[in-house]
Amino acid sequence: MTELEQLIGDKESTKMDHQKQTSLAVESRGLVKRYSEEVLAVDGVDLSIAANTIYALLGPNGAGKTTTISILTTLLEPSGGVAKIAGFDVVRQAGEVRKRIGVTFQDVVLDNDLTGRQVLEYHGQLYGQSKQERRARTAELLALVELEDAADRRCQTYSGGMKRRIELARALMTQPEVLFLDEPTLGLDPQTRGRIWDYIRTLKDQNGLTLVLTTHYMDEAEQLADRVGIIDHGKIVVEGTPRELIDQMGADTFRIVGQGDSGHFIEQVRALPFVQTVTTGDNVIQVGVDTGSRRLVAIVSTATDNGFAIEDLSVARPSLGDVFFNYTGRQLRD
Ligand SMILES: Nc1ncnc2c1ncn2[C@@H]1O[C@H](COP(=O)(O)OP(=O)(O)O)[C@@H](O)[C@H]1O
Ligand SMILES: [Mg+2]
Repeated sequence: MTELEQLIGDKESTKMDHQKQTSLAVESRGLVKRYSEEVLAVDGVDLSIAANTIYALLGPNGAGKTTTISILTTLLEPSGGVAKIAGFDVVRQAGEVRKRIGVTFQDVVLDNDLTGRQVLEYHGQLYGQSKQERRARTAELLALVELEDAADRRCQTYSGGMKRRIELARALMTQPEVLFLDEPTLGLDPQTRGRIWDYIRTLKDQNGLTLVLTTHYMDEAEQLADRVGIIDHGKIVVEGTPRELIDQMGADTFRIVGQGDSGHFIEQVRALPFVQTVTTGDNVIQVGVDTGSRRLVAIVSTATDNGFAIEDLSVARPSLGDVFFNYTGRQLRD
């Protein structure tokens, strides 16, 4: 091999290594954040998020979602573990990370005295964009989030949904590779949430972005995400595509509320051959079965035979809510 060939060869392999490293948009190993002796907010989170996917971190209040996002976006240093964005370390290469990300926060952070257009232009200026560049980008993004008509009104006059949209546009000013959205639809009405979902899908499909969002809305994760990580007490308890997670639950789920000897009833239900999962909590017994329509009678007679009086029973296709319940023993409520 000539020196030149060797040089080219080395270059190629370096390029490949880099590609290998950066095919993951987000990667973390053993991420830990301890705020104090008592508060361990993030407890060993491992993430591998492929580029150009939508990943939802789903969990209740206090689960550690915002803390995780804050570490990944370099706003907070971890107490332990490592995290990389597009191959760059969030602590040692924070500047490189910041160049490649956009973020919107759980709480709206807007200067109410500025107009929507000013919010975007000032952000571009802050990141050193030329006047021409930031004007063009601002116009493009105002169109994307459908705020052209309101662009020259002060943010003070915006509805909650409009504020979320201008923040989304602001996060996109710097053309990020990875966009972090912490509870992007918190407090919005269903219709406005639906529109935000549409922008998020567009960003993934047309702009090739990777989106990492947190939510405590089951339907949001189910509708939007390619992959979901369910987080509880600072730990990812299960991860997969929404379909994979739901399929584990059985084809149908009975939700049963009643009085009496639930212990015995549950034991007997578990032994039924068509029963796939049984979970309990919050006074609700959930039974995942192969096909609900044909199993109702057997479930009811098992209850009667074991001195358990059913007060309420419904059958439904399982949802991510059932998956959450299965792994945490709790319902995920607002
Ligand atoms: N700055 C802070 N100082 C101390 N504790 C905090 C701080 N921020 C969050 N926590 C605690 O850390 C845990 C995780 O919080 P957070 O990451 O905000 O969860 P989530 O976003 O899932 O609601 C909670 O117990 C919360 O009270
Ligand atoms: Mg939060």
